[in-house]
Amino acid sequence: SAGRINGIKSALRVIPNFPKPGIMFQDITTLLLDPKAFKDTIDLFVERYKDKDVSVIAGIEARGFIFGPPIALAIGAKFVPLRKPKKLPGEVISEKYILEYGSDCLEMHVGAVESGDRALVVDDLIATGGTLCAAMNLLERAGAEVVECACVIEVPDLKGRERLRSHGKPLYVLVESQFEPTS
Ligand code: PRP
Ligand code: MG
Repeated sequence: SAGRINGIKSALRVIPNFPKPGIMFQDITTLLLDPKAFKDTIDLFVERYKDKDVSVIAGIEARGFIFGPPIALAIGAKFVPLRKPKKLPGEVISEKYILEYGSDCLEMHVGAVESGDRALVVDDLIATGGTLCAAMNLLERAGAEVVECACVIEVPDLKGRERLRSHGKPLYVLVESQFEPTS
């Protein structure tokens, strides 16, 4: 699996000063252009979760929608989209969360999960962990048990892992963010 992880790392791209000066943007779109690295990414998650009795994959808009569904199909779980405000047509529950500048909100359809469901939260990247905590709050308010949160990339400096630990849930990631622009 070290070989697969290295392949994934090399397929990611780091773009400096996007979307703002000083930010090293961790770009997953180049991973999607590499079928071997993309498949290895999904396979590593599937191997970890296939026997963990996960009944729901909750994917976070937008980039959690890329990695969540193939995992859900492979392990035979339902996929539940957690969306930005005013996108879901049915009755929703909402959870606001604070960002570095301003605030945002995630919504989930009422009835998408039920008590007894075991949920895995999937996103591309954890930075402060605010987004994943909002997702876990939504799932728990609906009666689901959160098994774990899974991301492709962790930005370790921002202490998201500790924030999730204080929520009582583990985090699984494949790689740490890179701080050199890729060539
Ligand atoms: C990014 C990333 C995670 C979130 C992580 O999404 O895809 O969802 O930020 O940040 P946090 O750990 O500090 O909460 P973003 O909100 O930029 O939107 P997108 O996925 O729709 O592009
Ligand atoms: Mg996102």
